[in-house]
Amino acid sequence: MEPKDADRSHGRLGTFARLLRDPLGVLDRIAARSDGTVVRLDLGPFRPYLVTRPEHVQHVLRDRAGTYPREGMMWKPMRRLLGNGIAGEGEAWGRHRRMVAPAFSARHIDGLVDGMAAAIVPAVEACRTDAPIEVYAEMTRIVHRVIRRVFFSDRIPADDVDRLGTATTGILGALAARMVLPFVPDSVPLPGDATYRRATRTVDEVLLPVVREQRRRGGDEPDILTMLSQARDETGARLPDEQVRDDLIALFAAGTESTAVALTWLWLVLDGQPAVADRLRTEVAEVVGAGPVRRGHLPALRYTRMVLQEVLRLYPPGWLIPRTAVAADDLAGVPIRPGDTVLVSPYLTHRLPRYWDDPARFDPERFTPDRSAGRHPGAYLPFGAGPHRCLGSHLFTVEAQLIVAAVLSRYRPRLVGTPSVRPRLGASLRPRQRVRLQLAA
Ligand code: HEM
Repeated sequence: MEPKDADRSHGRLGTFARLLRDPLGVLDRIAARSDGTVVRLDLGPFRPYLVTRPEHVQHVLRDRAGTYPREGMMWKPMRRLLGNGIAGEGEAWGRHRRMVAPAFSARHIDGLVDGMAAAIVPAVEACRTDAPIEVYAEMTRIVHRVIRRVFFSDRIPADDVDRLGTATTGILGALAARMVLPFVPDSVPLPGDATYRRATRTVDEVLLPVVREQRRRGGDEPDILTMLSQARDETGARLPDEQVRDDLIALFAAGTESTAVALTWLWLVLDGQPAVADRLRTEVAEVVGAGPVRRGHLPALRYTRMVLQEVLRLYPPGWLIPRTAVAADDLAGVPIRPGDTVLVSPYLTHRLPRYWDDPARFDPERFTPDRSAGRHPGAYLPFGAGPHRCLGSHLFTVEAQLIVAAVLSRYRPRLVGTPSVRPRLGASLRPRQRVRLQLAA
């Protein structure tokens, strides 16, 4: 019975010390033992509910999204950086979502594919081949070139995009202390505050002049900067410059690290899956040949898409989606009170044996149309679900296919050393060790 399972309050399994040592291992065991029923973790004063079964996940993220807003835990400190626009909640978030969403629609993104390819191909060609590359850094560099094109139509220097990347990483790292201590008021200094101030200055220095210049000169480039600068709300009012900045940096933060992390996992996983890697290489050779990759190639890169889907199943960068209840609710028989934290974990849902055969096995064939058809739609949620579902999922898929095709049509990547496929927890799910590749032409 589910209420009893929830009451079993996994204090015994999920002790704080063990969680610190091997958090994913502990969570994985709890999820497997509870077979996806709602369980309560006992972390001393913090006792969140862990929700993994597809129908429960849909309840929290989609059907009762109003009861479980993005509040508390990591959201409050994040809002200091990202503002209360697209990364926020409530009425302001809804307004921004409606303004931003058209720029991420499949139709709009598909129109940008050749421009993205033109940014990706030289970025991939610039990878060194005389020594191993550090995969996460190189994937980040390539993703920044895509962002520069899609967000700014290349109207800002590449160095400035890299500076934004360093600043957001610095800010998110600096906010870690505030995330762990959400009850400490902003007026009380904490470690990371100085980094935070420096990094927010960089964001202002890079973005505010670009926003002002865009508004002065007008123009109708099909990029996110133009669209946000011109967007009007229901009353016909334009967004203040600072809100355009907030949304740009929120979209930047949402779209860069997650994509670079997913691509890092891809190259790591492929090295241990020679049959998959061969098939992927064959598909790219047949479809793209010696390149360069173009928009017309994408529909035929079917296996590439399935491989990416399987990477996001086993290693979803957004491994944890926290919510805070603002009203009482009945969650699968478990009484939830206002203020309770509810944790949805795509990582755990993607590994529930009830929905996935041999879940630890890397098997892109799970995503053939036939096999996907029989699956609960809530069992796969690398991009979240409900009203906050990721706006960038199509952009990611297109961008990642282009990058994989550009790399494989030019190089034969080989992993250096034997880094483990065990993840390390942070705001996103990253490989525990550095991943290095030797690229041979
Ligand atoms: C592998 C790549 C990506 C992954 C795994 C990912 C994952 C997610 C997840 C799990 C959420 C839901 C968060 C929640 O419900 O609280 C989300 C939201 C979001 N993502 Fe992504 N994302 C990826 C790429 C991107 C890209 C490329 C962009 C855009 C440049 C983007 C923009 C957003 C935005 C704006 C939201 C918030 C939507 C809202 O609250 O209305 N993401 N993403």
